[in-house]
Amino acid sequence: TSSTRGEATLLSDTSETFELDDINWDDIGFGLVPTDYMYVSKCLKGDNFSSGELLRFGNIELSPSSGILNYGQGLFEGLKAYRKQDGSILLFRPEENALRMRTGAERMCMPAPTVEQFVEAVKRTVLANKRWVPPTGKGSLYIRPLLMGSGAVLGLAPAPEYTFLIFVSPVGNYFKEGLAPIHLIIENEFHRATPGGTGGVKTVGNYAAVLKAQSAAKAKGYSDVLYLDCVHKRYLEEVSSCNVFVVKNSVISTPAIRGTILPGITRKSIINVAISQGFEVEERLISVEELLDADEVFCTGTAVVVSPVGSITYLGKRVSYGDRKVGVVSQQLYTALTKLQMGLSEDKLGWTVE
Ligand code: COI
Repeated sequence: TSSTRGEATLLSDTSETFELDDINWDDIGFGLVPTDYMYVSKCLKGDNFSSGELLRFGNIELSPSSGILNYGQGLFEGLKAYRKQDGSILLFRPEENALRMRTGAERMCMPAPTVEQFVEAVKRTVLANKRWVPPTGKGSLYIRPLLMGSGAVLGLAPAPEYTFLIFVSPVGNYFKEGLAPIHLIIENEFHRATPGGTGGVKTVGNYAAVLKAQSAAKAKGYSDVLYLDCVHKRYLEEVSSCNVFVVKNSVISTPAIRGTILPGITRKSIINVAISQGFEVEERLISVEELLDADEVFCTGTAVVVSPVGSITYLGKRVSYGDRKVGVVSQQLYTALTKLQMGLSEDKLGWTVE
């Protein structure tokens, strides 16, 4: 397809290779299923994004000299759409993703869509792909907004042009364990973030930086890696793709947001849900020793939802939680959150958007 300025050029239409009938909704996992449409909007540096357009899902064209490819000037977001039993579709707190993208864009010297533009673009993309939203209880439609420096630069500088793009894919459980407890290893050599760095925003490079430790951990049979702060090498930060919580004597604690941890929307929602269920919740420094002494540990994230942790390995020593069963608190919070997201419980806080 030929392109005009402001349009993404479609090089191949991958959606033709996949059909709904190819999907086994009972075993879908977390991998890309090419869907029908993606949303694309472009703007020049110093300008604002306009309303954008829906294009067939497919490859995009970028200058080899683009800011994203050369200098990692890019952010992503993740949110989900759930199908309700009556067939309607719910988004969960999309304006929170919009606000987080705006904060990240400021850090990465990029223009960002307004909250209204972001939410509208998400709605348009989901509706254009609505046949791909899994049946109720069989998963969700994962929505991946991207913001990137798409213009060409050579000397290090913000790109002259930006692209805001949204694609979607139906997904099931993130970890291959499904809802069974995952096994984490604490990383001692590598760190995810540094004070003053970009660990607190969802920039693409944060995720490239954890691949080496994650691959090594997976090769040894662990589900993922838990990172410690790089100054003391003692306090919990987060797992490669999610936040972490510990439970001790029914008090729920999670590392405080201090610039090196991603401010997860599921993290924030779980804190709220836990408080409303009568739990005491603390956001603070949490040492490895406390973690190893916890009654229960779980992770939260859009992709992972609430994932119970079955064991943590630190300096060659393995500590197990919950005798291979899902912890009571993790289960309770998982159920409360997902019922809300799927429209199965009353949405008193107005978190869902139809
Ligand atoms: C999400 O939970 O949506 C994320 O962005 C994490 C990603 C590594 C899958």
